[in-house]
Amino acid sequence: MPATTAPLLTDEIRGTASQADARGVAAAAFRAVRSETERRAAPLGPEDQSVQSMPEASPAKWHRAHTTWFFEQFLLVPHLGGYRVFDEQYAYLFNSYYVGAGPRHARPRRGLITRPTAAEITAFRLHVDAAVERLLVTSADHQLPEALRVLEIGMHHEQQHQELLLTDILHAFACSPVTPAYDKAWQSPRSSSPAAAFGDLPAGIHRIGFLDRGYCFDNELPAHRVFIQPARIGRSLVSNAQWLEFMEEGGYGTPSLWLSDGWAALEAEQWEAPGYWRKVDGAWHTVTLAGLTPVDPDAPVTHVSYYEADAFARWAHKHLPTEAEWEIAARANTISDAFGIVWQWTRSAYLPYPGYRAASGVLGEYNGKFMVNQMVLRGSSHATPFGHTRPSYRNFFYPSARWQFSGLRLLDYLE
Ligand SMILES: [Fe+2]
Repeated sequence: MPATTAPLLTDEIRGTASQADARGVAAAAFRAVRSETERRAAPLGPEDQSVQSMPEASPAKWHRAHTTWFFEQFLLVPHLGGYRVFDEQYAYLFNSYYVGAGPRHARPRRGLITRPTAAEITAFRLHVDAAVERLLVTSADHQLPEALRVLEIGMHHEQQHQELLLTDILHAFACSPVTPAYDKAWQSPRSSSPAAAFGDLPAGIHRIGFLDRGYCFDNELPAHRVFIQPARIGRSLVSNAQWLEFMEEGGYGTPSLWLSDGWAALEAEQWEAPGYWRKVDGAWHTVTLAGLTPVDPDAPVTHVSYYEADAFARWAHKHLPTEAEWEIAARANTISDAFGIVWQWTRSAYLPYPGYRAASGVLGEYNGKFMVNQMVLRGSSHATPFGHTRPSYRNFFYPSARWQFSGLRLLDYLE
């Protein structure tokens, strides 16, 4: 199932094109994003769509509903006169973390929302889709720019949930004794370049952050200067073969390789291999979206936590890159497989850039309030919708998380 989606809005549509063009292009982009979510959910029956396998993972049905609530709450209610809310209870059920938008159901208990059914969520989606299309036709010219701004955030938001829909159902299926396949034809990607090659990273002052045309989230701003040391960065992602070496040399049994919190997580969760790995008849297998498959030594390692990535780097006598080092390397095309394979842990804490201010209003809760205790991942994975990410994109998760498509590349300093 290749990731496909139409490009989102362009600068031309945002700024200089005629209003008629903007309305048409925005409607087409909206339809493409909405249908991609449904395409990803299509292999899942109503039972699959209701399951919640851990507090951090949400049911597929919830993702489909929450992304729809986002448009209803932030676009339709304030911007479409006479809009009729589909169901007054849905705001409570499908608000995620927007305190300013009102009370909400507890995240760990989303799997208990057996009603509304998956079919009722489909009806909710169609109701909101029709209303957004109506808004794009009827909105007054002077109100259109603000409507397009919110619409665009909603589309990028839905794309984020498209990836989560897959990572969350993979976790649920991996918890099942029969490890169902989401898509028997799903191909886990392989690296495009041989392991062990390193490329130079020029020392000095560079600019990072959103420097380009197009869309970005507020956490990519402001662009700013950073200073980096002379270094060499791994052109390729760390492979399963390299990870097996780490395991064979006792990586999971050597406390001196691990951060204290990482060792505690290893002990508590009894880690002895990456997430979803299990030994079958003496051979390592891994649960993928195609079901249980043998570990491919040439494929990049996936489903490792920050703690594991950090321990691996220490074992290899290397480091994880900072997010600035990663971005500079990606912009210079120094690295292969920056995008579309696995997200890559960096050793940068998820912090506000110098001068960052979250947007005012409830949508200001989108990124800024999470800027503590998490680590940044860069790039994108094979489950990321096409066109969603960019060199300045900052993904972030807690350092113990490993149900995302998360891997790593290494870096070495020259001085
Ligand atoms: Fe969300």
